[in-house]
Amino acid sequence: MTGNRTLTMIKPEAVKKNFTGPILNKIAEAGFHIVAMKMTRLSKAQAEAFYAVHKGKDFYENLTDFMSSGPIVAAILEKENAIETYRKLIGSTDPKDAEEGTIRKLFAESKSYNAVHGSDSDENARIESDFFFSETERYS
Ligand code: CMP
Repeated sequence: MTGNRTLTMIKPEAVKKNFTGPILNKIAEAGFHIVAMKMTRLSKAQAEAFYAVHKGKDFYENLTDFMSSGPIVAAILEKENAIETYRKLIGSTDPKDAEEGTIRKLFAESKSYNAVHGSDSDENARIESDFFFSETERYS
């Protein structure tokens, strides 16, 4: 990976509310290229593995229950400086603190149900992308 990619998930509450289209539209308008994308549902064990870095935190159980509660959309996004640019586009973890116009401000309910995930580093983007996508599922 080049350092120009990030992994996003549209989370179960946002998919359920039919926000997939509007969120993908914000992503496209911001100039991200979609390298890979799928709709899928995580098992509890898969959600625990994806969020293993948070194991032991007080929100881990609720987070992994929630993330396995319904379908999600996972995608690899490409743009220069993808990690930072995408985190700016999605806004703060808690939508109460997110800037106007950000995806979380527009579409998230709360810190726990915060509409989307975005990788926090190039290394995690690689790990998270490999979690969802094989090489043959990526189209650059
Ligand atoms: P995400 O970017 O997917 O990464 C970890 C997730 O944990 C985060 O978004 C939040 O949805 C969720 N979460 C729930 N409670 C907290 C909390 N107190 N602090 C940080 N993240 C939390």
